[in-house]
Amino acid sequence: MLDEIVNAVRNCRSCVVLTGAGISAESGVPTFRGSEGLWGKFKPEELATMSAFISNPKLVWEWYNWRRQVVGEVKPNPGHYALCDLQRWFDRFTLITQNVDGLHRAAGSENILELHGNIYRNKCVDCNHQLPEDMDIDPDNISSCPRCGGKIRPDVVWFGEMLDAQIINKAFSESEQTELFFSIGTSAIVHPAASLPITAKRQGATLVEINPEMTPLSGLADYYVSAKSGEFLPTLVERLKQTSPPG
Ligand code: OAD
Repeated sequence: MLDEIVNAVRNCRSCVVLTGAGISAESGVPTFRGSEGLWGKFKPEELATMSAFISNPKLVWEWYNWRRQVVGEVKPNPGHYALCDLQRWFDRFTLITQNVDGLHRAAGSENILELHGNIYRNKCVDCNHQLPEDMDIDPDNISSCPRCGGKIRPDVVWFGEMLDAQIINKAFSESEQTELFFSIGTSAIVHPAASLPITAKRQGATLVEINPEMTPLSGLADYYVSAKSGEFLPTLVERLKQTSPPG
């Protein structure tokens, strides 16, 4: 399987990578689903929706402050770093992530499409005005937008909200054109992100999935690798370096 994927990298000039919570699991960031997942312990409708924010903004901010603290204490893992390296084998490379933890950027990746926003950014709940990243929000006294007075919220996508049109359109257009697509560490059930690998495959891309657990995508993948991304991706990059250094 490793050799086949090495060959696929060697033979393709464009690559799209979609990542989910699993790529950050080895950094110590909890995933959403699965036995230890956040959505097994907390109710998304009470924490990650606009109606939750309207009815209990204090609780929502306590939740996001806790998650900011969790991701603030962790570091990128070998999977994040290997993806930085991997881009050197392609003329065109797009990294699409559903994660809001900023770990791809911390690892040095560039041109990342953050489909679900970024947990460090803030914006106004009413007028969407972007506010500085370094604002600390007190859940008991939530700051107001300097423009319109609306409450400040984290700039992440909540359930039932639309994704940023420019970002999702770019993600689809890259997925339609790519020769190789990696789906890594995502349960592949939350759309529209989960449609990206399907779109790529329909347009003829070779589809590789890396996930210790099978997902609805596994049957469609040309290569399903049952492994942790922090173990498989560095192995892949090492093998590429040995056999076919980047052009
Ligand atoms: P999930 O928690 O649904 O799925 C994480 C996936 O990572 C699972 O399929 C695991 O098997 C896999 N996994 C766990 N450890 C891994 C490892 N070391 N290496 C590789 N894979 C591993 O997370 P997402 O698919 O990212 O949305 O969830 C999608 C969206 O649902 C999230 O962005 C979030 C969530 O609700 C919003 O908040 C809008």
